[in-house]
Amino acid sequence: MITSTILIAPSILSADFSKLQEEVDSIAGSADWLQVDVMDGHFVPNLSFGAPVLKWLKTDLPLDIHLMVQNPADRVQEFLDLGAANITFHAEAVKDTKERKELMDKIRSGGATAGIAINPETSIDSVGDVLKSIDLLLVMSVHPGFGGQEFIDHVLSQVQTARAAYPDLMIQMDGGIDEKTAPKCIKAGANNLVSGSFIFGAKDRTMAITSLRSS
Ligand code: DX5
Repeated sequence: MITSTILIAPSILSADFSKLQEEVDSIAGSADWLQVDVMDGHFVPNLSFGAPVLKWLKTDLPLDIHLMVQNPADRVQEFLDLGAANITFHAEAVKDTKERKELMDKIRSGGATAGIAINPETSIDSVGDVLKSIDLLLVMSVHPGFGGQEFIDHVLSQVQTARAAYPDLMIQMDGGIDEKTAPKCIKAGANNLVSGSFIFGAKDRTMAITSLRSS
């Protein structure tokens, strides 16, 4: 059965980087995870930050590393060294089943759970080789690279398909999630929601997080 708990993972990509510790502290009491969007400027058309920045952040929130990078296997160890709780790589960046399984093993042997992400145009069938064994499926509801984009509705059917086939899988959604789109995500079967601009743009961030969780 779907776990009744909906986890909320604020994405710090939408935070004010001039005061990142303060921004993280502002959501630490209400968020479940902290999502860190690692972008390399090649896999996605934007460059964000990596371990050299993250290592300065002090938080008890489980770190959820979303690797929007080519060659994610090259980036895993630095985040494991920082105590990442979950590391998600993109199916479009690792197409070979053997490589996917080796990467999952590497992530898990470092003490984190392993997730695989699919972009809106990627079919759920393309990750059928690992869904039985992966810890988390991330279904992107925007084209990755930037915060503040419009939610793409057609991905909801992929979430429904995945939930029907894998009742116990952690299914995360990310992109354009706010008080209007969160209920659709949960209804489709997602139980972990990433939200950036809605949370960090809110006057009351705790209220924003609570509103997503209780959608
Ligand atoms: C997009 C990132 C998302 C984004 C979410 O590439 O993976 O995590 O920061 O931001 P919003 O919630 O504003 O779409």
